[in-house]
Amino acid sequence: MLRWYLRRGFWNVIGWGKFKMNKPLEIPLPPVERHLIEPKPMIEVIPEVPLKNVMVCARADIPREERVPRNTAFYRLQVWLYTSFLSPMQPGLPQIDADPQAAVDQAFTRLHRKQFRPPELPAEYLGIADLGSLAVRGPFACYTTRVDDDTWEWDLRILDDYEYHPGLLTLGSRVFFGVDPLRRSLEARRIECVLGSIEPTDSEWEQAVKIALCAASTHVSLVRHFNWVHLAGGAQLAIATRNAFSPNHPLCRLLWPYIFATQQSNDIVTRGQMARGGDFESIFSFTFKGMCQLFDESHLAYPHLVNDPEVDGDARGVRDAGFDTPTQDNLEALFDVFHRFVCNYLEIYYPRNSAIEDAETLGWLAQLNTLVPNGVGVTPDNVTWTGLARLLARQLYLVTVQHEILGSYMWDYQLWTHRQPARVYSDLRREPLDVYQRLVNANFNLNVHRRELMSDFTYLALDDSAKAAMERFQAELGELQAEMDSKPRPVWRLDPRALEVNINA
Ligand SMILES: [Fe+2]
Repeated sequence: MLRWYLRRGFWNVIGWGKFKMNKPLEIPLPPVERHLIEPKPMIEVIPEVPLKNVMVCARADIPREERVPRNTAFYRLQVWLYTSFLSPMQPGLPQIDADPQAAVDQAFTRLHRKQFRPPELPAEYLGIADLGSLAVRGPFACYTTRVDDDTWEWDLRILDDYEYHPGLLTLGSRVFFGVDPLRRSLEARRIECVLGSIEPTDSEWEQAVKIALCAASTHVSLVRHFNWVHLAGGAQLAIATRNAFSPNHPLCRLLWPYIFATQQSNDIVTRGQMARGGDFESIFSFTFKGMCQLFDESHLAYPHLVNDPEVDGDARGVRDAGFDTPTQDNLEALFDVFHRFVCNYLEIYYPRNSAIEDAETLGWLAQLNTLVPNGVGVTPDNVTWTGLARLLARQLYLVTVQHEILGSYMWDYQLWTHRQPARVYSDLRREPLDVYQRLVNANFNLNVHRRELMSDFTYLALDDSAKAAMERFQAELGELQAEMDSKPRPVWRLDPRALEVNINA
């Protein structure tokens, strides 16, 4: 145990130091000279993470103004340490404390607490987790999909297809929900998983719920957050924007704070999380090979429309479906502010409903549709004023709201592994100390202080009209925040104040 305490102390100091040193990014004006990025398959650029379908920017190709050599060097050292004698993992450790609060307190030390608050316990985790409430509140609401008139589901059977660490249960699962019309709520009625077809009255229900939540949180962290937001959506948006627009194009100025530093950040974070011995392999259920295969396959399935809560909510059959949808409403309210901003901004340069014919914008659309798996729906051939405005709002929403709800926001959910395990052992034991500590430190570092969405970016405006549109956007975010502040804050609510302007680490 002495070895473990030393090891733990070392990595806790590293995590604390990273948190303390991280300062919100200063976002400069776009450089005068356009920097072209030619994305390459990850296997060529980062051979230690051999993904064939994921296209990334080579380290040598990262734009000069994004580079932070100190961070790159630090991550290189950190990745090297993962597989050295100082690895954060130590086989054979005991499991975490049976009291969940004690487990959090031991791993989230006084040092951590100098930088950030401890996690809150969502109301759904007070007893056996309430999947019906989680189907409409918080990060897993995105999985709730209509099957027929009376049934909704979470379908995560896909997770059975990949290689697991020995001694773990597979997570492929399907949760079925029915409606309680009087309470206007969903309730979980059956879970199909490795344990069989389990109903709430069965003795294995609690275990089946844990499997379903482990599946959902694994999929959120690996597929929805890192693969889809960082690699499929965010990186390609940043590449297309840099490649297609000259620095004084109005859409370059609009998108700039949302894309700046994406390549530098993705480059270091990909290595830190995905290389052998990285966070993903060490925390979640899949072996390195299984994780790589999951990333490569799910990358090709990226659905860009998840970044439009109205379209996504309609596609999943959760809007006006006879039950309350607090998270869906929360996300739509945020999206509407982005959409109004983009419409006001676009109108300055392209009269409402005029044809979109400028070469740079059409080039940007062409690039996006080539780079983003399955495209973005709006192409040079079908673009209209309304379609372009909607697409721009989705792009801003992707790197702010979507990134937050799938990333930092998981802090209040993912640490409570007595309800939502990081991995499920076949003999039902709890996570060992090293796996749990790694989970805490990885999530802690997602919460570093970054450039907030509610900041002044008017220095990027090309003229007074654009400046006024940006100011109005900030005022509307402030009004939405004030309205939210007039009510008590539930754990699941996503506030404008919590949003960062881009996905950089
Ligand atoms: Fe992220």
